[in-house]
Amino acid sequence: MTIDKDRVLIFDTTLRDGEQSPGATMSHDEKLEIAALLDEMGVDIIEAGFPIASEGDFAAVSEIAKLAKSATICGLARANYKDIDRCWEAVKHAVSPRIHTFIGTSPQHRAIPNLTMDEMADRIHETVTHARNLCDNVQWSPMDATRTEWDYLRRVVEIAIKAGATTINIPDTVGYTAPVESADLIRRLIAEVPGADEVIFATHCHNDLGMATANALGAVAGGARQIECTINGLGERAGNTALEEVVMALKVRHDIMPWHTNIDTRKIMHISRRVSTVSGFAVQPNKAIVGKNAFAHESGIHQDGMLKSADTFEIMRPEDVGLAGTSLPLGKHSGRAALRAKLKDLGFDMVDNQLNDLFVRFKALADRKKEVFDDDLIALVTDAAAAGTEDHLELKFLRVICGTEAPQSADITLRVGDADKQATAQGDGPVDAAFNAVKALYPNEAALQLYQVSAVTEGMDAQATVTVRIEEDGRIATGQSADTDTVVASVKAYVNALNRLIVRREKLGEGSDKREVSYKDVN
Ligand code: KIV
Ligand code: ZN
Repeated sequence: MTIDKDRVLIFDTTLRDGEQSPGATMSHDEKLEIAALLDEMGVDIIEAGFPIASEGDFAAVSEIAKLAKSATICGLARANYKDIDRCWEAVKHAVSPRIHTFIGTSPQHRAIPNLTMDEMADRIHETVTHARNLCDNVQWSPMDATRTEWDYLRRVVEIAIKAGATTINIPDTVGYTAPVESADLIRRLIAEVPGADEVIFATHCHNDLGMATANALGAVAGGARQIECTINGLGERAGNTALEEVVMALKVRHDIMPWHTNIDTRKIMHISRRVSTVSGFAVQPNKAIVGKNAFAHESGIHQDGMLKSADTFEIMRPEDVGLAGTSLPLGKHSGRAALRAKLKDLGFDMVDNQLNDLFVRFKALADRKKEVFDDDLIALVTDAAAAGTEDHLELKFLRVICGTEAPQSADITLRVGDADKQATAQGDGPVDAAFNAVKALYPNEAALQLYQVSAVTEGMDAQATVTVRIEEDGRIATGQSADTDTVVASVKAYVNALNRLIVRREKLGEGSDKREVSYKDVN
């Protein structure tokens, strides 16, 4: 295999490792949308899911495999024939399919399948051989590699290469390593394992000590040519290496890290926002590259410097990550053409009937809010996308009584199926009262896991975005909505989460999106 030493492949695992973090569950359609965006932005390999985990995962991986235009589509499989066969069934339709099989090799992980070191070595040989008999492109990972004894790691990597693995991934599963060690480990493996120069070494870092980006770049300095990462650093616990961070670090500091990626960085902001919306994981304001404040300059000295020359305080341009420069807000006199142009700038290509619908919502918002900023429009589009035409529940009317004197109460009219129903309920504050009224009209046992409010823009008339996450019988659904009235946004977000839960219950069938196994189950 010829390896381009100047190029770092980007392997995105938002839909597998990212989605496995509790509460980040995405619907089938959302996974397809994110996969299409990853493909368009130039991601080399998309890890689309863990096909054996559930019917839902299998369906998503196989559909993404059929739809992907240029990315390699990869599925995860544990070290057994059943997982690997199921994975191959899901990815085989891709223009470029890959099987990714793994086993935990550290003392901590070896204890779980109760295999001796020799038995595990045999298992690795058999399963990688089996995967390679099905697919030309096989990735193998020794899970928890960074806590695996050096001699054993070297031995099993050699076995996997001999059995036909084409990519060797070295995961830092618990976020334990440090940049210098990460570089050394890859460098030593490449130097000492026979056949290492014939395969690509990958790095997969978790962020438990906040070093995932540094560790991934360290590994590249040591010779790795594939970085595994997720959008917004989504992932279990403290998350994975953030795609936007490694890609922008390689671009901005090309002088000292002379490797390039294939990523169209101008697509970063759009996909970051979509992943945040569909996963329900808000991006912290001070998050590198994609946080709301990443390009904001508050202090007088900074603003003064910026006005004189942008590079005083800016090492990259907002446009490079897809943030439109200072753009004028729209207002109530703005027309359809201005709205279409603005949406296009923000990365949303609308067909005519979508635009018509959005224009009506935009006018309603512009009546309540003098200036409609880019973030308001993004919230509007997100809201429109969240409210499906087939929704079982729809908020028709809401009035709350709130203030210093209890009880707070809410009057609600909800369309439930075909019928409009009305209820009044009390609660501890207007949101609680309104949620109780929804529950009276649509009784359910779903527990509220998250209720989060943030302002879309500044100002007293700013819209609030509300995220609601609910859980019922192991199924998690997230809803989001924005409105200038926080209570209205809250109820719409709650109704939106319930609609998603209903779709999950009915459309996918009992248990079909429930994980039968997790990648932590070893056999
Ligand atoms: O963190 C990890 O070790 C993983 C493996 C399955 C590659 O996600
Ligand atoms: Zn991982």
